[in-house]
Amino acid sequence: MVEIKTERLVLRPLGIQYLESVHEYASDLNNTRYMMFLPNDTVEETKEFLEGVDKQWSSDNQTCYEFAILLEGKMIGAVSLTLEEDDLKSGELGWIVNKKYWGQGIAPEAAAALVEYAKEKLGVTHFIAHCDAGNPGSYRTMEKIGMVRTAEYGGRFNKSSDEERQEYQYEMNV
Ligand SMILES: CC(C)(COP(=O)(O)OP(=O)(O)OC[C@H]1O[C@@H](n2cnc3c(N)ncnc32)[C@H](O)[C@@H]1OP(=O)(O)O)[C@@H](O)C(=O)NCCC(=O)NCCS
Repeated sequence: MVEIKTERLVLRPLGIQYLESVHEYASDLNNTRYMMFLPNDTVEETKEFLEGVDKQWSSDNQTCYEFAILLEGKMIGAVSLTLEEDDLKSGELGWIVNKKYWGQGIAPEAAAALVEYAKEKLGVTHFIAHCDAGNPGSYRTMEKIGMVRTAEYGGRFNKSSDEERQEYQYEMNV
């Protein structure tokens, strides 16, 4: 099993065994306000998502690497890399941390470790990420791991609101 260790964290493949911890943040409006595909209304939705994640980890053609973030053995969030299907050297980063653990630098620590893993083990050289322009937690994470803003546009809709939002795009070559 893949395992990535950082100073404070352990990253392990996300999967159905983390259903309860994932559903706690994935169903919470404050935890998911700036996300396009969350919150989940039912535990079945979270279960379906995790079953898809499990399938990816056992696929011979894996393009999505979604890791559970563990702090002192407790699952407190997730960080992911989704490779572009027609260019496996390029991937999109994503992250979510249970709101009880915000503001401790968890996401940047996990994301930096994932970038290093992707560079060394998967040969990824280009990283991209997107977020709501009103979500400093996310774009500060991008900046802290060395990404730079390359675009801003409208037309974003988060799941919890009908309001059209601005979106930032960040990129980094390693
Ligand atoms: C985005 C997210 C993963 C950042 O994780 P984190 O581990 O809290 O990251 P950090 O501790 O490095 O904080 C990053 C920035 O968030 C802001 N922030 C963090 N906690 C905060 C809090 N409690 N109140 C206000 N701002 C806060 C700060 O601006 C901080 O930047 P700074 O260190 O320069 O001040 C986390 O906020 C989260 O899970 N948000 C909900 C999910 C989400 O929006 N994901 C991104 C979708 S694109």
